[in-house]
Amino acid sequence: MLAIGGDHAATRYKECIKKHLDERKIEYTDFGTNDMDSCDYPDYALKVAEAVASGKCEKGILICGTGIGMSIAANKVKGIRCAHCTDTFSAKACRQHNDANVLALGERVTGMGVALEIVDTFLDTQFSGDDRHIRRIDKTTAIEEKYFK
Ligand code: RB5
Repeated sequence: MLAIGGDHAATRYKECIKKHLDERKIEYTDFGTNDMDSCDYPDYALKVAEAVASGKCEKGILICGTGIGMSIAANKVKGIRCAHCTDTFSAKACRQHNDANVLALGERVTGMGVALEIVDTFLDTQFSGDDRHIRRIDKTTAIEEKYFK
């Protein structure tokens, strides 16, 4: 199960991504928002990040105007490795190297065609499992352990 969420700047984009997921028969839970009334991106980042961190959802997709606010907020949740991507190279690398579990996209930055390729790359790429990447993720998690109470 995938978790998806966005703010008011991402509603149309989120609908396009959901249609794409439907076509691929990928199940998802939509955590909103579902209209274009102004709202606060951390509220939706938290819902998606908690769904992923708790294990209810395997991965998440967060969308805002730039993708930046969503990624900053989601990465405040313990266990979240949220990657803000604007290209498929990064989408592939964030899975292979960083084992990213949430993808952040920006509707005002990335065209829909590229965004769908980023989504597919993110969902279809496995973590490499290489020792050096595990070591680096473990070191990152240690930072989280040190500073997250
Ligand atoms: C909303 O105007 C915008 O600030 C938000 O969608 C996002 O881009 C924040 O990072």
